[in-house]
Amino acid sequence: IKRIGVLTSGGDAPGMNAALRAVVRKGIFHGLRVYGISRGYEGLIHGELTEMSLGSVADIVLRGGTILKTARSAEMMTPEGQQKALEQLHKHEIDALVVIGGDGSFRGAQTLAKGIQIVGIPGTIDNDIPGTDLTIGFDTAVNTVIDAVGKIRDTATSHERTFVVEVMGRHCGNIALQAGIACGAESILVPEIPFDFDEICEKLKRGHQRGKNHSIIIVSEGAGSAYKIGEELHSRSGFDTRITILGHLQRGGNPSALDAVIAAAMGGKAVEIIMSKETNKMTAYVNQNVVSIPLDVAYGEMPPFNRELYDLANQLSI
Ligand code: F6P
Repeated sequence: IKRIGVLTSGGDAPGMNAALRAVVRKGIFHGLRVYGISRGYEGLIHGELTEMSLGSVADIVLRGGTILKTARSAEMMTPEGQQKALEQLHKHEIDALVVIGGDGSFRGAQTLAKGIQIVGIPGTIDNDIPGTDLTIGFDTAVNTVIDAVGKIRDTATSHERTFVVEVMGRHCGNIALQAGIACGAESILVPEIPFDFDEICEKLKRGHQRGKNHSIIIVSEGAGSAYKIGEELHSRSGFDTRITILGHLQRGGNPSALDAVIAAAMGGKAVEIIMSKETNKMTAYVNQNVVSIPLDVAYGEMPPFNRELYDLANQLSI
């Protein structure tokens, strides 16, 4: 019987558990032995492998976080760490490894590709992996932001305030764009497109003259600090301004239906890839289908930022 390992690595994302469950259950369905590796590459390096049973993944399909736990492993970036990881895989006679994480996690996996089959499943709230329309966790994070902004808007309206809301995304403005357009934010600031304080202030003033009593500005963390942006806007416009940094609440919670379904489909596809003896592959969501693509694509260039949607958001919040 073939043995496969599975780990979650990097920042956690809602839906990782659903992907793990699919890998374990589909693997066992096909007669494979599946080993869960705790704490990402940290756990692998230290030999934290446990055989997973059907029951070990019961009741987790809609649970946020990752029951395997995760880590950002500095040791895995060193040749010594990679060697230790490979030794552990050989020691436990693992033939294939499924890595659920972002591009950094895939790079770690590829260093192990000499001795073992590798499949990546894109899991990160940032939606910043080339080759897949969606990464697991993104849809849930966007919905979490929309929910939070709705609550902020209530108090912003009561107090007639401007709120600068900072969202995650690292260097990618996708969470800000999708959430911003969905909740009708007055401005959306993203790292991909330069912004102009004068224009934002003009828009705030125009809104005020029309009788608008609150404004929401969504700032992607890669575009700058919400505190600095808020101060600048306040000093230029004089409007009563408050800052909210949504932070890690965007990483938690039960996955949305879309994330849970994509996660399950990707988990299942990863096992199929392993059984067809392919390696260095990644599961990807393309045109509403989960497919297998080369892992290298994940390190390529991101598709261009959706400028059309960004421009539309600006036109709608004129
Ligand atoms: O990659 C996911 C992410 O949540 C980013 O959006 C954010 O910049 C980063 O991780 C935060 O990392 P940490 O949880 O290590 O602080």
